[in-house]
Amino acid sequence: MSAQPTGILRRLIRSWREYGKHDAIVRRDEYILEHLAGLDANALVVNVGCATVRRFEAECPGRYLATDLRVLPTVDFSSDATRLPLADNSVDTLITLEMLEHVPDPGAVVAELGRVLKPGGTLLLSVPSAVPRHDTHDFWRFTAQGIAALCDPVFAHGKVTVYGGTFETLGYLTAYYVSLLLHVLKFPGKTFRQFFPTVGRAIDKRAGWTTSTSALHTLAFDLLYVGTGADTTEAR
Ligand SMILES: C[S@@+](CC[C@H](N)C(=O)[O-])C[C@H]1O[C@@H](n2cnc3c(N)ncnc32)[C@H](O)[C@@H]1O
Repeated sequence: MSAQPTGILRRLIRSWREYGKHDAIVRRDEYILEHLAGLDANALVVNVGCATVRRFEAECPGRYLATDLRVLPTVDFSSDATRLPLADNSVDTLITLEMLEHVPDPGAVVAELGRVLKPGGTLLLSVPSAVPRHDTHDFWRFTAQGIAALCDPVFAHGKVTVYGGTFETLGYLTAYYVSLLLHVLKFPGKTFRQFFPTVGRAIDKRAGWTTSTSALHTLAFDLLYVGTGADTTEAR
């Protein structure tokens, strides 16, 4: 008679197998896709710091432009995000994912995003919180409070959402460093990539630590700031 996994174990194995479809970044991207689906064909969407992928272009119903500091095959124009060649109040939706940690002066980028965003337009800006250093130009990590303090003065409304709570984040970090250790020891280590975050997410859900932006001792994997363009005509 073979023993069948029951209850929690069965659920855990299923989540582990399917985790790639629901990881923290996929969940964040689902929110962004939902926003884009609500735009009309005239809406201008600009992806700032797009790197090598024109992310969401296929699903965008509006006009889509991509830009990066680097001259890449993916960009419509290359530009420094502190000096975008776009008119004031001209963009309906700005997408800026995992870019702010790579600029020496993130406040200057946020001010520029605020300048080009239409009043009532939407900023979708994500930043890593607890992730390893991942580039030679990697200057900053943000807490929910930190990103809000940077963006709130520029946008009319702002809300920060956590994607990847405390134990899920620890799961990512464990998976990352176990893989690194196995790599150093020359063992194959792919299995751990999904296992630890899956267990972490299950613990977060149980402890209610999935999305807190303010509780002490919490970690976050990724933070999405959703801001609304302010009417700055009087201030200028
Ligand atoms: C981690 S990648 C971004 C990934 C991409 N946004 C995505 O969704 O997968 C960071 C990008 O920011 C770009 N970058 C860094 N500083 C910049 C700046 N001042 N202006 C515009 N882009 C910048 C880099 O060239 C790089 O392509």
